[in-house]
Amino acid sequence: MERTFLAIKPDGVQRGLVGEIVRRFETKGFTLVGMKFMKVSKELAESHYDVHKERPFFSSLVNFITSGPIIAMVWEGEGVVAAARKMIGATNPLTAEPGTIRGDFGVNIGRNLIHGSDAIETAQREISLWFSDEELVTWESQM
Ligand code: CMP
Repeated sequence: MERTFLAIKPDGVQRGLVGEIVRRFETKGFTLVGMKFMKVSKELAESHYDVHKERPFFSSLVNFITSGPIIAMVWEGEGVVAAARKMIGATNPLTAEPGTIRGDFGVNIGRNLIHGSDAIETAQREISLWFSDEELVTWESQM
């Protein structure tokens, strides 16, 4: 089954949006298979955002993501990678559609509340970067 990596960034945690964000993925019908509340090391942040290392905003991105605790998550479901990106909305919250997480709650591109893997291969890389196999729970709802 397809899986994606999502992380509620320090701004999402500090603004008290964890419940709201998690609720959206739960009520959509996706399955939570991994979750941890953590402070991110500089090394992990740099590795996660490696693809952006030549960008002018790289150091501010790493500084921000390591500035406070985040919620790292793995969600499972058919088409979850693309669907989660749609639910998150465009990178810049100012242009993100209303109804998306960034469109409903954000105004700043550097503080855009949540990260979501952009493709299936990226999701596999990010899940193995952030989680060990033992931290992921395979289960099926009985409801
Ligand atoms: P994310 O989905 O986590 O992936 C890369 C992040 O870089 C992105 O969200 C933004 O938070 C950040 N980002 C992208 N463009 C800019 C920018 N122009 N200035 C600051 N941060 C940016």
